[in-house]
Amino acid sequence: MASKAKRIGILTSGGDCPGLNAVIRGAVKTANRLGFDTIGFLKGYEGLVDPVQYVPLNDENTRGILSRGGTILGSTNKGRFAATVGVNDRVELCPQLMKKVKGTFDQLSLSGLICIGGDGSLAVAQQFHEYGLPVVGVPKTIDNDLSATAFTFGFDSAVECGTEALDRLQTTAASHERIMVMEVMGRHAGWIALHSGIGGGADVILIPEIQWNFDIVCEKILERYKAGKKFTLIVVAEGAHMPDIGMVTQEDEQTGRQTRLGGIGHLVAAEIERRLHFEARTVVLGHLQRGGAPTTFDRVLATQFGAHAVRTIVERRFGHMVCYNPPNIESVPILAAVHQLRTVHPDSSAVQAAQAMGISFGNCALHETPFQRYVTQHDHEIATDDATALLESALQSLVGAET
Ligand code: F6P
Repeated sequence: MASKAKRIGILTSGGDCPGLNAVIRGAVKTANRLGFDTIGFLKGYEGLVDPVQYVPLNDENTRGILSRGGTILGSTNKGRFAATVGVNDRVELCPQLMKKVKGTFDQLSLSGLICIGGDGSLAVAQQFHEYGLPVVGVPKTIDNDLSATAFTFGFDSAVECGTEALDRLQTTAASHERIMVMEVMGRHAGWIALHSGIGGGADVILIPEIQWNFDIVCEKILERYKAGKKFTLIVVAEGAHMPDIGMVTQEDEQTGRQTRLGGIGHLVAAEIERRLHFEARTVVLGHLQRGGAPTTFDRVLATQFGAHAVRTIVERRFGHMVCYNPPNIESVPILAAVHQLRTVHPDSSAVQAAQAMGISFGNCALHETPFQRYVTQHDHEIATDDATALLESALQSLVGAET
């Protein structure tokens, strides 16, 4: 390639999710119209060095990928560029590696590199930025747990998958009068469980942000049983904390430097069976949530992220990440987005609305939920207001009848 070209590089890093290709397409179309070449590095950051692996990207080879799941560039969440351990720690990238990455930037005359990734991958982009390399970030993860953006693309598609699964589980659960426990992804955040639980009509939602116990979960199941509803749908986030045990992990298996979560669904079902002697079954949605076509919402968000990432490079706002601050796409320093997870607030309106409809989070009896507390505290006033209103309308109709 000629070294004088205006050129933008793109890579997808970390776990894949629906919408990655839509970002690539959005960035390529935008960049090409602004007179930039675009190249895509293969297998995430790994494609940057030893050996450098990339493909030219253009209208032809990005045509038709808007609706395609996965990433045409490949990705990895293992290897030489893992920059986080767990939630908060940072691992410095090796200086020799950084020097080689800089060599690739120089050799290819990159005006900027678009790094599409989650918290770990953006932490790498931050280190590149500190090293003086022109990078911008695009937030990606089905977990929706990045600070500084209202939504990450991929989340809506994962929720759609969870919601559809619940719709399916509802009919078989009802037919067999069973307890169905559905385990969803999300790591330390309960967003997927909360949204798919509400969207799919779950009866119980267990998330990492809310401490729960089996007494309350079983109470809810029995309450339904007494009301003639002999089945129960439970959604449990993979990162929810088992009472007396904590987070359930796949001990031996690591994702990059992160321990794999998972397995809580089976434990929840087994404990409910032990306590209530009702039949319980578990479904672990796993990577179904990450595969397949992005939803319309994710396509629109991802396309905007791709276009605005190019604009962020053109405006030389390096070290920034595009973000969604409804209704606008803006940008914030990558530092504001990494190393601090955005989790579900236990008093958020979504949680309160779910509780108001009778969904249990396994943490308190229904009469202790915020809406119910409010009604109990204001019962007297409500009754008085109602009585006054009734009296007034009765008087109005009397006056109306006389005139
Ligand atoms: O961060 C996205 C995510 O899908 C998490 O929800 C999940 O815990 C993890 O990745 C699974 O990673 P892997 O695909 O490496 O098993």
